[in-house]
Amino acid sequence: MNKQGLHFTDASPNAQFSSQSRREFLRTALAVSVFSATCGTNTLLGTVIPDDFKESGAKLTGIYRLQFSEYPELRTVNGSIRLQVPGTPISMGRVVVTRLSQAEFSSLSENCTHEFCPVEPFSNGRFNCLCHGSVFDGRGRVLNGPATRPLPSYTTTYKAGEDFVQIDIPGLVVSSVLGDQQGGFSLLQNYPNPASGQTTIEYNIEKQSFVTISLLSILGKEISELVKKDHEPGVHRITTDVSNLSRGVYLYRMETSTGYTQTRKLTVI
Ligand code: FES
Repeated sequence: MNKQGLHFTDASPNAQFSSQSRREFLRTALAVSVFSATCGTNTLLGTVIPDDFKESGAKLTGIYRLQFSEYPELRTVNGSIRLQVPGTPISMGRVVVTRLSQAEFSSLSENCTHEFCPVEPFSNGRFNCLCHGSVFDGRGRVLNGPATRPLPSYTTTYKAGEDFVQIDIPGLVVSSVLGDQQGGFSLLQNYPNPASGQTTIEYNIEKQSFVTISLLSILGKEISELVKKDHEPGVHRITTDVSNLSRGVYLYRMETSTGYTQTRKLTVI
């Protein structure tokens, strides 16, 4: 954890763990990585597979299985959803899963490779980035700049007749242990970020608790209270308008009556 209470994830942890101890560590850790949470009208169902992670070079790859029949959007070609897979390295943002054809899915990082704004939802075969106009196709390839690199993609496997899509996510396993989840509570990165108008903050609540989320200056002075109420377990989100704030970096902090606290940065442009 750094000075401001922000957590960062090392997606290349070989320097920290021997191969043997790492395997034991991961097996223990993965026992808590199976999850189910409500997200709007959907049920977020997925599993990090305990005995089926890969080691290649300096990277550890977690296997995430998405039960796509739970997502009506993915029943049709060009359907697309965006998921916060627990344990995905923070720098990669959420995972955008898109059905390219009956038999093919893509999984991409939502972060534009120009200056890392989250791309807009998949529409007309494209992902648009509203920050500076970059456009990507369903496989993440650049159609229009200023971005010059494709959206980072994850190996995605689907076998006809099966009810899941398998997504290989480098860093998933280790970050699910060392990342910012604490007992099923988490505060996610706002999107879009940087923001100039409305921005949304998503957070997960493990069990019923009183939650406050405050917007702070970079020096930690409270600017406003975004959330202050009891919450049921599940995934929640708050949308706020930052257009009246001066350009710059701010913080938002979540605290719960169960003792969870987390702080993240928010940039206004
Ligand atoms: S951040 Fe996407 S185009 Fe600049």
